[in-house]
This record gives sequence, C-alpha cells and structure tokens, in this order.
Amino acid sequence: RGEPTAEGFPVSVLHQMSSHAEPEVLLEKVGRAGVITMNRPKVLNALNLTMIRQIYPQLKKWESDNETDIVIIKGAGDKAFCAGGDIRAVTEAGKVGDSLAQDFFREEYILNNAIGSYRKPYIALIDGITMGGGVGLSVHGRFRVATEKTLFAMPETAIGLFPDVGGGYFLPRLQGKLGLFLALTGFRLKGRDVQRAGVATHFVESKKVPCALSCWFKSLCALFLKTISLLFSVSCPNSVRLFSASSVEGIVKNLKTDGSEFAKKQTETLSKMSPTSLKITLKQLQAGASLSLQDVLVMEYRLSQACMRGYDFYEGVRAVLVDKDQNPKWNPSTLEEVSDQMVEQCFSSLGEKDLTL
Ligand SMILES: *[C@@H]1O[C@H](CO)[C@@H](O)[C@H](O)[C@H]1NC(C)=O
Ligand SMILES: *[C@@H]1O[C@H](CO)[C@@H](O)[C@H](O)[C@H]1NC(C)=O
Repeated sequence: RGEPTAEGFPVSVLHQMSSHAEPEVLLEKVGRAGVITMNRPKVLNALNLTMIRQIYPQLKKWESDNETDIVIIKGAGDKAFCAGGDIRAVTEAGKVGDSLAQDFFREEYILNNAIGSYRKPYIALIDGITMGGGVGLSVHGRFRVATEKTLFAMPETAIGLFPDVGGGYFLPRLQGKLGLFLALTGFRLKGRDVQRAGVATHFVESKKVPCALSCWFKSLCALFLKTISLLFSVSCPNSVRLFSASSVEGIVKNLKTDGSEFAKKQTETLSKMSPTSLKITLKQLQAGASLSLQDVLVMEYRLSQACMRGYDFYEGVRAVLVDKDQNPKWNPSTLEEVSDQMVEQCFSSLGEKDLTL
C-alpha cells in the first residue's frame, strides 16, 4: 500500500514487525531509493540482532532489484544515527552461554561486509551520534554524509572490547596515526572534523538534509555526489604522531615525555581503558592495515569471541552501561601484566566456528 509522503513520492512499507506500533527498523521504497530508518530513538537507535536480521535480506534484495538505484540509511529522531550495538544484551547472553553472544557478532559482521561490497550507491546519513555498531552500518558504504550534529567515536576500549565492525580495516587507512589514536582513546570527532578525518565523504548542514534527501530519492544523487569535488585540506593534529610506537607502552612513554596538555589528557584517557583492549586494538590495527575488509572481519570475529571468553568485556559493560559507576576494575589491571602471549591467543583460529564470508 503506497502512501504519499511530504516529498510527494509513494512510500510502501516493506517490512513491519507484526503487532508492534513502532517497528525498530523501517524498510521503505521511496521512488527508486531503498530507505532504511533505524527507529529506536529512545535508545539512540541502538542496533540489535532483530534489526540486523531485517536489514540484511532487504539490502540483498535491493542490490539485485532493477527498480532500486540507491540505498539510503538514516536514524529516526534528532539525536542519533546509531549509537552502537545492543552490547548489554550480548554480555547478558554471554554470561548464560546463550548463542546470541556468537550470532550477534557473526551476523553484524556479515552485514558490515555486505555494505562494504555493495554494488549500488549506499548513502549513510550520519546526522547525530554515530558510534561502534553505527559506524559499521555507515563507514564501509560508498557515501557517508555528516552534518554539524555528527558525533563519531569508536569507544570500545572503555568497555573491555576493541573497535570492531571493520575498525581494523578503516582505521589504519585514515591519515597518519589518526585511526590508532581514535581506536585507543575513543576520541570523539564532531561535525566537519568527521569529514576532514575521512570518516565522512561529504558534509551538509542539518537544515539542508530534507532537501538533500529529496534529491537522493529522485536518484539524482549519484550525479550530485559526483560533481561535488572535495578539496578540503586534511591536517590532523600534529600531536597524533605521538601514537607512532610499536607498543602501547611505547605510546604512553611518548605521551609522558611530550608533556603537552594534549598528551596529558590522552595519557589520562588511556589509563582508564582496559589494558587488554588497548593491546588487542594496537595489534588489530597493525594487522588490519594490510588485510582486506573480509579478512579483517574474520579476525575481528575471533577477537569478539575472545572478549566473550574473557573478563574485561563483562566488567566494562557493568561499569559503563549497567551500574554506570564508570569505575571498571580491569583484570589484568596494568599494561605490563598483559603478555604478548595473552594478546596472541585472542587472534587464534576458532576452527570450524570461524566466520566465513
Ligand atoms: C530488539 O529491539 C526490539 C525493540 O526494542 C525488541 O522488540 C527485540 O526483542 C530486540 N531483539 C533482541 C534480539 O534483543
Ligand atoms: C526488471 O526485472 C523484472 C523481473 O524481476 C523483469 O520482468 C523486467 O524486464 C526488468 N526490467 C528491466 C528494465 O530490466
């Protein structure tokens, strides 16, 4: 059943959860565009397995549908595109040995790969908070459009995880040591900086979003986006070079020696992160720099399952998302106690349980 929208295009709702008044994700056709709307504004459009299982098959259908030219993904409400995965549910499942702890990561990474290899223009409108799982839904697509309200971060080291969803692929490909800096500290990029960093490909003011959307709905977007030439000068803060060391201890040493305000602040931030997460993340980005997105996702699936077997992920989620005391007790509690062998083990094959793409 088609209904006219504000733009005057017929909309047919392709999927709705049976009896719920508010489906958690809207999948619609607007003109020749497939439109995905993350629709849990009260929880900042957090991504859960139910949503992944709705988005993935529709995305594949649109890819081979000759009446669909482009796919647009956006978030409902005015705060977030998607603030991340529904991680709390995952750790609860992990504690009781529920398969959600494997299925969530596996299916999320399969979706990330489908976006990264999509054969039609995929436009993510990242207007608002875009973190973790929300980054995985956007950054691998051909176009990422930021606004002044975009707030980007990969904050996983604060919860005993690592910057997954293909972070091991896109982060080491940002200029210099910027990706490693973002990965270890969870630093938040805002507005135009999201584009300057290369996370977004385009920038529009949020007040112009309705106009941009209506243009994309008419599928002029391919042309529109092609004609915008981006001549922004990328200048990353010089201090990010302090992150060029081959170990986390080396980075901390660089920061302490430097002693600037920036360096002091980053040292303090790093001291709050899971030491295990920091070491896993450094190795993940070092390895990911020369791997394909597919191989990175296979590696990250191994890492996700290592985190599920470990201690810090549960403790991080407890401290940051459940009790909110912001005071995780990491184990091991120092970088020195996290041996190379412990890190190495997290990267080992899961045999027949490995992710296959
Ligand atoms: C995902 O969120 C929706 C809406 O809050 C809920 O109905 C559904 O049960 C959730 N699914 C999972 C797997 O947690
Ligand atoms: C589009 O696909 C339908 C079947 O899925 C086919 O009947 C039709 O001829 C196709 N149109 C074009 C222009 O390829």
